[in-house]
Amino acid sequence: MQLATQYAHLSALAAAGRLRTLTPRHGVDFSSNDYLALSDSPALIAAAQAALARGVALGSGGSRLLRGNDAEHEALEEEAARFFGCEAALSFGSGYAANTALLSSLPQAGDLVVHDALVHASMHDGMRLGRAPFQAAPHGEAQAVDDAIAAWRRGGGTGTAWIAIESLYSMDGDLADIASYIAVADRHDAMLVVDEAHATGVWGADGRGAAAAWQGRPNLLTLNTFGKALGCEGAVLCGPAIVRDFLIARARPFIFSTAPAPLSAAVARASLRIAGTEPARRVQLQGLIDSARIHLEPLGARVRSQIVPLVIGDDRAAMQVAAAVQAAGFDVRGIRPPTVPAGTARLRIALTLHVGEAEIAALADVLEELLP
Ligand SMILES: Cc1ncc(COP(=O)(O)O)c(C=O)c1O
Repeated sequence: MQLATQYAHLSALAAAGRLRTLTPRHGVDFSSNDYLALSDSPALIAAAQAALARGVALGSGGSRLLRGNDAEHEALEEEAARFFGCEAALSFGSGYAANTALLSSLPQAGDLVVHDALVHASMHDGMRLGRAPFQAAPHGEAQAVDDAIAAWRRGGGTGTAWIAIESLYSMDGDLADIASYIAVADRHDAMLVVDEAHATGVWGADGRGAAAAWQGRPNLLTLNTFGKALGCEGAVLCGPAIVRDFLIARARPFIFSTAPAPLSAAVARASLRIAGTEPARRVQLQGLIDSARIHLEPLGARVRSQIVPLVIGDDRAAMQVAAAVQAAGFDVRGIRPPTVPAGTARLRIALTLHVGEAEIAALADVLEELLP
């Protein structure tokens, strides 16, 4: 029978309670990454309408290296470089594409990549596609990264060391101590790559990201995405101009892919302007984080940012609690391995401006009934 192995895989996943399926949107939003509720905001919709009215195209018509290089892409990259404070930016259709482009092309065969154990799948996939060996360091431990690079040097490693971290971890909600990683990078003449997907728009001055204070350094690269707090789609890699030039020349996900829609680039530009000029959205989100501390921490949730994990442990138990919370009208998702480490299945409660304190309190009431 054709696809027999695939059927067997699906059955095994279903039997283990780990089958991923698509479900329609339902219930109060405690699961999106639309932290500032920009995705359906009048401001962003107006920006899209204005862009269409001035003739911005829906499709790019080709790779950036061919006919696809639209003025909107270049304008976005200039504005993003100014906004985030780096020398140059290069845009991609998604953060996934940007991370795979970066890590598959920049580190070379004689280099070493040391990554935090909890970095996103897109970083893992980029490292797997690349030529440099890579190894994990325990989560959040800059000293362990330092030790790994020092050991590699002692063993004869002569290339460049690359450090890959997130500034705000997507499943744990904790913020990295970026200063410590910068110090390690400086000490070893290493390059630091910071995935700011969940921090962009929310953390740092004007939402420029948690690494904003270090932008412009020659050994820092950041991934800033538009699909989460900024409410649209796409991403920019920010760093020295030579990195941009290198990626254009060598990164296969950039070269061999149709450029993103010029309309998306125009909307992304508008999202940067909104982030820079409407601090009230960030203040409101910080207020929700305070509310979560009051209502959700007593239930065992860890509240360090707008991403609030409530670890349950057992996969099935986590998915059962998630299903019951959903049935009560709250869109809270259960997250299980391999997305998170074994034994740490959890509810991932995302705080966005689509909810207020009343909804957080109501969710807490439901959870109190359900939690073991
Ligand atoms: C930490 C992190 N990095 C990168 C990405 C990929 O970004 P995008 O959704 O724009 O492809 C995600 C998406 O979930 C993410 O959580």
